[in-house]
Amino acid sequence: MRSGIDDITVLSSGEREKQALAKAVNEMLEAILSSMEDDRAYSGIDPVRLRSLISSLPVLPGKGDGWNGMMDSIRKDIIPHMLRTWSTSYMPHLHSPVLIETIASELMIAAFNSSMDSWDQGPAATEIEVRVVDELLSIFGYGEGADGTFTSGGSQSNISAMIIHRDRFLDKLGYDVKKEGLPPLLNKLRIYVSGISHFSFDKGAHILGLGYNAVVKLPVDEFCRINTEKAERIIMEDKADGFIPFMIAATAGTTDFGSIDDLEALRKIADKHGMYLHADAAYGSGAILSSYSDRVSSLHLADSITVDFHKMFLIPISASALLVKDGSELEAFQLHADYLNRKEDEEDGYINLVGKSMQTTRRFDALKVYMAFRMRGRDGYRKIIDRMMDNASYFYRCISSDSEFIAPVKPELSSVVFALCGGDDRNRNARRALMQEGIIIGQTVYKDQVMLKFTLLNPALSHDHIDTLIKRIRSL
Ligand SMILES: Cc1ncc(COP(=O)(O)O)c(C=O)c1O
Repeated sequence: MRSGIDDITVLSSGEREKQALAKAVNEMLEAILSSMEDDRAYSGIDPVRLRSLISSLPVLPGKGDGWNGMMDSIRKDIIPHMLRTWSTSYMPHLHSPVLIETIASELMIAAFNSSMDSWDQGPAATEIEVRVVDELLSIFGYGEGADGTFTSGGSQSNISAMIIHRDRFLDKLGYDVKKEGLPPLLNKLRIYVSGISHFSFDKGAHILGLGYNAVVKLPVDEFCRINTEKAERIIMEDKADGFIPFMIAATAGTTDFGSIDDLEALRKIADKHGMYLHADAAYGSGAILSSYSDRVSSLHLADSITVDFHKMFLIPISASALLVKDGSELEAFQLHADYLNRKEDEEDGYINLVGKSMQTTRRFDALKVYMAFRMRGRDGYRKIIDRMMDNASYFYRCISSDSEFIAPVKPELSSVVFALCGGDDRNRNARRALMQEGIIIGQTVYKDQVMLKFTLLNPALSHDHIDTLIKRIRSL
């Protein structure tokens, strides 16, 4: 049956096109809403059956399925097996449910399809991103001269920080990496990170031509924070051995534990040894809007900060920013193309954001943050993020007084790593058994022991849900 959409190509101001858009959006919304009959996170289908189902469906048929045919299959075959991030039974990763208004933002982003590289591809989008970045600089305590850019995620923010700090560091030594390429001393450069930092620093070291060996993993203390005394000793030993320490990357919210490195101590070490200090606050940055903002109030001490909005801020993937205390460091990404960002336009006040980013064509992700910030305000966000952090404290309190569990690290953010007593297999089996019931929790390793993990990003999660989950896990 013809859908009324099939013979329409792109959005335009014509009546038929507008109706086609309304139909497509309404039917998709209907399909999503009608899949939400229960709170299960996942259908429970195993990878073999799911792969076989998806393999049986065409990807690019000779004659298209048309809107109705395609949507019937999306409704029947795909949507039932989508992971439902909104489920209160979903807590394995830093992967959040999303604020309702930001789903509407995604529609606006797709419909207008702005690109952030040049002003003429997104005039309002450019001006809004600039405003959002300015607000973020102020929220995190950066002053005059600071700047920032949206990125595709925490990994890109971290790698961008490594690039700009490496270039500026070498520039001060007289090397113009941007023009001349890598100097011979490159394999002596060292970056220092927590032993439990995110692997994007290793990835970055590879991409930058420094190699994994350039990333020195610092030991952590019992709270899973960098041991700053040992850190300084290691840096000094490396210097004595002829290496060139150029950057420390602190983590404000480690992926598993949510632990926050001591930025004040690390700032002192960085200053003493002429190094840059980056703060990977991909996870912990959200805490700045909570009642517990003192836990991350030292972020402004860092030379750059990674902020992920697709974690505690509950914004749809992807949305991240890199904030830089000395905004001129972003010039590392500046290039001019006659067709794109003409110098004379920029002199006349047209802002072309391409000059601050690793990317060229770039999504208007700042809109999602802008809409959520405006709608909720500081007050609304505080309540949401407080709820996540309070839930983590509640869960930790419950299990640390229960002889059936161990919980080695007190949470600073919204994640709790714990284990059932009884060994690795009991914990592995518990996670698999829960998955088959549609309850998805995390699993990691702490001191060679298999541990379970709750990442409590869903503000709809109540103490009752937590009590029920504890009871269920105990019984496994
Ligand atoms: C501490 C930390 N940094 C960086 C990242 C990478 O962020 P993204 O997945 O957005 O690239 C993560 C991801 O979980 C993270 O936990």
